[in-house]
Amino acid sequence: MTLDDILDAGPVIPVIVIERPEDAEPLARALVRGGLRVLEVTLRTPAALDAIRAMCAVEGAIVGAGTVLGQEQYDAAIDAGAKFVVSPGLTDALAAFAKARKVPLLPGIATASEVMRARDAGFTRLKFFPAESSGGVATLKSFASVFPDVRFCPTGGISSDSATAYLRLANVACVGGSWPMPPEAIATRDWGRIERLAAATAALRRAAA
Ligand code: 3PG
Repeated sequence: MTLDDILDAGPVIPVIVIERPEDAEPLARALVRGGLRVLEVTLRTPAALDAIRAMCAVEGAIVGAGTVLGQEQYDAAIDAGAKFVVSPGLTDALAAFAKARKVPLLPGIATASEVMRARDAGFTRLKFFPAESSGGVATLKSFASVFPDVRFCPTGGISSDSATAYLRLANVACVGGSWPMPPEAIATRDWGRIERLAAATAALRRAAA
């Protein structure tokens, strides 16, 4: 799968923080049942790699790793079965490493200079992070006129209310966020609530069209 295939399978990528590995499979099932197939598991907890392994077994799920900061995490994510890797920013070392891997990287940027550096390194599919505090929709509109070849996945501070405005932009491939999985819903294993939130979220593209 190319990065475009993955981003186009959105419209929203749930950005998942998982504490208990045993929650991974039912959580992924709930999200996929609700219509969200592309799942980003952040490497922010000790359970994350096991969660990626468990989620990869869920039919229909396209599982990637997020918050990847360096090479060791990149390869650990690939070993766990990740189909894509997301980083909050980009370093020269990570760019070179990613280019030598089959599993694609969606690197993060927040400014025009960072977009230029990422393009120079060969990346034109970028995470816009942290989206809301970096100017949100207005910044992406400005990027559209100067970087017509770049498609973005904004994340960071986006909610079900603000997602629609992003999804209306032609240079937005999809949006990422944690709002479909409130931490208390995971803690209480309320998979029904998460499925309903996922279904409402999956309907956003149609509302925006
Ligand atoms: C990310 O890594 O993309 C963000 O942590 C997700 O941001 P959110 O929790 O504000 O949606």
